[in-house]
Order: sequence, then C-alpha cells, then structure tokens
Amino acid sequence: MEHPTADSHPMNAARFPSNRWWVAGFAWELKDKPLARTLLGHPMVLFRGPQGVAALEDRCCHKNLPLSCGSVEGPGLRCGYHGLLFDERGVCVEIPGQAYIPERARVVSYPLREVDQILWVWIGQGEPADEPPHYPVHVDPRFKFGGDSFHYKAPYQLIHDNLLDLSHVGYVHQKTIGGNPKLHMSAKFDVTSDAEVVRVTRPMPDSVPPPTYTAAWPFAGRVDRWQEVEFHVSHLVIWTGAMDAGSGDLADANRAGFHIHGFHGVTPETATTSHYFWTVATNEHPTRPGAADVLVKQVVDTFHEDKDIIEAQWANQVRFAADWRQVAIHVDGGPNRARRIMTALTAQQ
Ligand code: FES
Ligand SMILES: [Fe+2]
Repeated sequence: MEHPTADSHPMNAARFPSNRWWVAGFAWELKDKPLARTLLGHPMVLFRGPQGVAALEDRCCHKNLPLSCGSVEGPGLRCGYHGLLFDERGVCVEIPGQAYIPERARVVSYPLREVDQILWVWIGQGEPADEPPHYPVHVDPRFKFGGDSFHYKAPYQLIHDNLLDLSHVGYVHQKTIGGNPKLHMSAKFDVTSDAEVVRVTRPMPDSVPPPTYTAAWPFAGRVDRWQEVEFHVSHLVIWTGAMDAGSGDLADANRAGFHIHGFHGVTPETATTSHYFWTVATNEHPTRPGAADVLVKQVVDTFHEDKDIIEAQWANQVRFAADWRQVAIHVDGGPNRARRIMTALTAQQ
C-alpha cells in the first residue's frame, strides 16, 4: 500500500489526464448567458449559440476582457468591452466600426458536445479521437432526475475516494440515506478493475431500509440492498437500490424494486479545486407520486454532507502538508485503484 509523501500532495501536482472528454456542466446551465468555468486549468466561457453549444478561451483577443463578461448574441458571443463578435469556432466575425478583420482576431475554441443533457468538453491535442459517452438514464422514461453543479475547495482525488468507498454512508449520512453504520462498514464488497475502470459492488442482503428508501417506496419489511459503483477517469456512475428481501436476484440487471442511478462528473478545476456535476434519477412508485422530487431534495442534503467532510479533510491535509501520512484500512481498495489509474495517466502527460 503506497503512502502519501510531500511530493504526492495534490498541491504539488497540477497535471491531469488529457486527450479525453471531461464533463463541463449540464445542458440546462446554458441558456441566454455565457458561463465562465475553469476546467483542468483552462479558463473557458461556455455558451449556447445558434449552431449549438460552444466553449472558447475566456479571454478576448483585443484587450483580454473575459468573454464571459459579454453577451450571447446573433452568431455567437460579443465581448463586453469594445464589442468584438466571435462565432462558435472562436473566429472574430465583426469589429464594430472597422471593416477589416485581421486573420489573427480569433480565440481558442474547445470541442463541446451536449449528450443526454450532459456537456462534455474535449481537452487535449487536436480533434477529438471519439465521441463522448451516452448516459441512457437521462432519457429513460422510467426515471425522473434532478441534479446540480457543485464547486469544491478540494482536489478531485478526494471526491473519487468518497464515491468509491460507500462505507462512509453510515457515518456521514446517518440522518439521510445512512442506516446502520456498522452494517455499512462490515458489508462485504468486491473490487474489480481494468485499464481505466474500477468497479466496486456491495450487496447488502436482508437489511433494514434507511429512512430515505422507506419514504420513497412501500417496502414490506427487510430488503435486499445493493450499491454498485463504476469509476471512469472523467465520471462515476453509481447504482443503488433495494427490493423486498428475497423477491429477486441481485445478479439480475433488470431486477424490480427501488432504483437510484447517480451520475457524478468529477472535473478538476485546478490541482486543489474541483467541479462536481451530479444527477440522481429514480423510479417512482405509483403509490408515491412526487417521491422522486423529495429524493432529489434529500440527496442535495446528502451531497452537502459529503462536501463538508471533504473540504474539512482537504483543509486539514493542507495544514499538515509536510507530513500527511495515512493508515490504509479495508475500505480503501476501490479508491486506491482509482488513484493508481489517475497517477499513471498523469505521469504519461
Ligand atoms: S477587450 Fe474585447 S473588444 Fe476590446
Ligand atoms: Fe456520501
């Protein structure tokens, strides 16, 4: 088990895996105003133009005002200082009061795609090597979902740690989705991985459903509960849920019961700050109309509980940066594999 050293402290490592799609936000964030967002250290302005969504470097090529101070207009984005107008490719198409537009009047553009309500930005060399992944849950009529974009004063690795180790649920989320903390800590889990994916599965058969679950679904009594986490470099998908104990097979992907699908885009902003783009989708029981909205509201509380813990943890790792040795325990298997993947990819940059 590797131990952190001062060298491996995130404050000293500002590299990220590039040449891939990263989550830049959600489709509903782009309406009629530009949105400033720094992703992997690149300050960008995102906007929705007539041809679709676009991402440009957030710096006018005239006098460097952030383009995010401007306005979405006509074919693109107009700078808020002297009115240069840029199209979605970052090419200046109008200089008010001047007919001649210099060839160099352009700003860097980043490929941006909108897929199933998720905005994906390509950060890397040249044109994208592929297209960003689909997220079918967002377009599946069986599920209702809600979500939000959080900003974290903590490095992305700590968010990965948290999402890949759901044993924390019993302690951090005791009041919401928790249930019995000891049960969570002692639930057997399985970790598998390949080159860039880590999977952690935790079946919790014959357990007591937590308050969030019983509010959303009419369980008869005890439940067979599951938590399945799949880590990818740019995001995680987490499938949790429960069904009446003994009513189905935990190996059946189409099992009945109450399901929660979480999408978690974790995008570094800088080496020590992060964006966390999440949605939670659930199937609503016919006898519990409105339960999905209630669940999303509860999840917001839950995610604030995580944010409080992670930001406090990071503030302390900064305070103890000179010696932040850690003792590994049995729940760290998933997080450690993800860290190894991220370390290997950043070392290649
Ligand atoms: S700084 Fe943008 S137009 Fe002058
Ligand atoms: Fe959590």
